[in-house]
Amino acid sequence: MGSIRIRELTKKYGDVAAVDGISMDIDDGEFLVLLGPSGCGKTTLLRMIAGLLGPTSGSILLDDVDITDAPSRQRDVAMVFQNYALYPHLSVQKNLAFPLRVRRTDKAEIEERVRDAAGQLDIDHLLDRKPKELSGGQRQRVAVGRAIVRNPRAFLMDEPLSNLDAKLRTATRRELGALHRRLGATFVYVTHDQVEAMTMATRIALLDGGKVEQIGTPEEVYDRPASVFVAGFLGSPPMNLLDGDVAADSERVVVDAPGVRAPLWHGETERRDVVLGVRPEHLRIAEPDDEVRFDAVVDLLENLGSEEIAHCVVGETGTTLSFRGRRPTGLHVGAHVVLTADLTDLHLFDRTSGRRLDWVPDTVSAHALAGA
Ligand SMILES: Nc1ncnc2c1ncn2[C@@H]1O[C@H](COP(=O)(O)OP(=O)(O)O)[C@@H](O)[C@H]1O
Ligand SMILES: [Mg+2]
Repeated sequence: MGSIRIRELTKKYGDVAAVDGISMDIDDGEFLVLLGPSGCGKTTLLRMIAGLLGPTSGSILLDDVDITDAPSRQRDVAMVFQNYALYPHLSVQKNLAFPLRVRRTDKAEIEERVRDAAGQLDIDHLLDRKPKELSGGQRQRVAVGRAIVRNPRAFLMDEPLSNLDAKLRTATRRELGALHRRLGATFVYVTHDQVEAMTMATRIALLDGGKVEQIGTPEEVYDRPASVFVAGFLGSPPMNLLDGDVAADSERVVVDAPGVRAPLWHGETERRDVVLGVRPEHLRIAEPDDEVRFDAVVDLLENLGSEEIAHCVVGETGTTLSFRGRRPTGLHVGAHVVLTADLTDLHLFDRTSGRRLDWVPDTVSAHALAGA
């Protein structure tokens, strides 16, 4: 078991709330990723769950038991730190055994659990070494092993891959995913890396300014971002966001923005300021009869090998628009290009609140914009 319920959790430093009234339910066996830019409160939230930091207000429940005031030692959770925090003077064997020794586990059981964890992580041959005799990747495994030996209800990990090089990070990402499936335990995993979040998470909680912007499966947050912030955080390059307005134009409701025309549906609506979103990979070069049109000039081309990214400028205001397509796109810098996208790939957000507006693409009947 390892369900975690967080209720109205706040941590203030002076007047500044590092974590600002966060509530979320993490189910037993989830791989929940706390994702967000540097300084958004990920580490602070994780350390409060670990009991390394006391909240200003709010509560934390582990398997329905209130642990808000329980000391770290008495919480059945194990933390893996970004810098691994291994004891430099102890061997790998002793580092792995350490959490069990402080809990006065009996010797035979310690040996068995250490052997088992070392086997799972493929570090059996390193047991006599000291941390300084290990590579970064091996140290990272020892840090994970030290959590595994405790057989905790939940694993808490703070950017455990950030000190590894790119290739090792990719490999270790897969291993952590496999470890999670094998153990079936709850993982709460902090990262600022959207690829780690998208590939490993059962759900992603995207944080900004100490608050949860959106929580959902990787598909939900990518395909239906709840706000301009989420839309602009995920994707590479992230979703294009253009200021415009939505209004009825003779018989059609259209989004108008400089250099952009997007007829949405037949009918009426009240004029409102919006942000129009479209992902770079959903754009394509328009045919003459395509109704959705982005008039753009190519400013920069990036060759990614299999694909090409054209960074364009639309309208007189110089809003940027990225288009990602299979290479070669046939475009060149300075070229004028008209791009289009399917209506189902256009996202609308309220300009004032930044929240998503829901609408149903349908050229026959009118749909009221619902949302913030
Ligand atoms: N001990 C502290 N004293 C004052 N401010 C802090 C302290 N720890 C964190 N903060 C502030 O709280 C905010 C969230 O920090 P943190 O949780 O470390 O963010 P993240 O892990 O998402 O990068 C940041 O603005 C940070 O400067
Ligand atoms: Mg952090």
